[in-house]
Amino acid sequence: MVSSEAAPFAKTGGLSDVLGALPSALRKAGHDVHVLLPRFASAKTFPMRRIWGELRVPLGPREYVCGVFQSEQDPAFLFLDYPEFYDRKGLYNDVHGDYWDNHLRFGLLSRAALEVVRKIFPARILHCHDWQSGLVPVYLNQMAGDPTFAGIKTILTIHNLGYPGIFGRHVMGELGLPNALFGPSGVEFYGNVSFLKAGLRYAGTLTTVSRKYAEEIKTPEYGFGLDGLLRYRSNDLHGILNGIDYTRWNPETDSLIPANYSASDLTGKQICKQALQQEFGLTVSGTPLIGIVSRFTGQKGSDLIAAIGDRLFSSDVNLVALGSGEPQYEAMFTSLAARFPGRVAVRIGFDEALAHRIEAGSDMFLMPSRYEPCGLNQIYSLRYGTVPIVRATGGLDDTVDQTNGFKFHDYHPDALLGCLQQALAAFGDCGRWKGLMLAGMARDFSWDASAQEYSQLYERLLNPTGR
Ligand code: ADP
Ligand code: GLC
Repeated sequence: MVSSEAAPFAKTGGLSDVLGALPSALRKAGHDVHVLLPRFASAKTFPMRRIWGELRVPLGPREYVCGVFQSEQDPAFLFLDYPEFYDRKGLYNDVHGDYWDNHLRFGLLSRAALEVVRKIFPARILHCHDWQSGLVPVYLNQMAGDPTFAGIKTILTIHNLGYPGIFGRHVMGELGLPNALFGPSGVEFYGNVSFLKAGLRYAGTLTTVSRKYAEEIKTPEYGFGLDGLLRYRSNDLHGILNGIDYTRWNPETDSLIPANYSASDLTGKQICKQALQQEFGLTVSGTPLIGIVSRFTGQKGSDLIAAIGDRLFSSDVNLVALGSGEPQYEAMFTSLAARFPGRVAVRIGFDEALAHRIEAGSDMFLMPSRYEPCGLNQIYSLRYGTVPIVRATGGLDDTVDQTNGFKFHDYHPDALLGCLQQALAAFGDCGRWKGLMLAGMARDFSWDASAQEYSQLYERLLNPTGR
């Protein structure tokens, strides 16, 4: 696998959770999986040893001399060392915006993957994730005559179509991409280069992270301009729902929450709620508490929350939100907290331990996403007995139903408000509420089932005739 993120080494979102857990689930199923990641500053704090001194990676007119490291804790993880590109605080950007050289940083990662295959780990399948490794299949295609790479299959998993990895036409040469590829049937996307489109065009197999999203992205509403290509490739596109890592997200054993609990004894959940109310200066009471942990972006439905704030918080309900992202949405949440002190509390930032405390201490978890390829927080919520309230899109629609949560369809503030009111009414009925909590806690979203589906896909690719 080739990825930019994997827990615990580098994280901005769910991609990292997936790459932190799926490889070991696949290993359990008998596959020898390695993951190539950039050696970002955040990864350097983990013990690792250098396994290759000078990996020479040609990229366009230049040759980059990189190191390769291997994690001491989990040898499946390999790290491409090129400090000038990766030893930075941010993964993709800093306060001034996206790094100017992201095309080179992730072009190098993609091209280096082939040199890793040549010199270190002779993979038979290259499984790429999102735009950051979208050029791998393109480079592999260029090596068609090289026997080292004969028969290697490629998969691209789409975690989020909303991040196409777009760069100006001038990057073609720097990335070693011939001009002939600059066209609608190549890597061009409306006059620019798109790494994601390149991957969608050249990878042998495409997957995405829920069944519903696999359908949605073939429509103009969800396709970000790539729906035509996805319809064209629909025979090669599969939806495989993400799992979650129950060693990290399990209320019975989670060491990041004030008290552990289980479906058979929910006492600890009350302790978690009280502790969360105290931590955020809310009155300790039976008032329903809604939790949010999210990137604050247009994808996540922050504008719907802004639109219903005044109507929702004039009634007896509390909100605790943790997130960071686009300044306009951060400001929206901060102003909501200022207008409803003691009712709405917001923390701007990225805080893993707090994310666990919110999952455990809230009664309900809100994800009114405009689109959601899979979504992991609603699955964590189900496990923590925190009833999800979601928009029926992508993985949210595949994981939440009326037995374990609440969902609405139209992307409209009134639809969200109506759905929240139903949830609040159900909260008033203790028996019904407990039924919802227990139904969610009983569902099994462990990685084993999803890994099985990837496993079958790998086996079909390696043995297409089924013999
Ligand atoms: P996405 O990848 O689109 O952000 P997911 O629901 O798949 O959405 O995954 C988000 C992951 O990132 C979850 O593990 C969630 O707990 C975590 N996360 C998001 N924002 C924060 C934050 N501000 N602090 C801590 N964890 C966060
Ligand atoms: C993306 C999506 C999210 C998904 C995650 C992991 O970031 O936005 O829905 O859960 O990738 O696949």
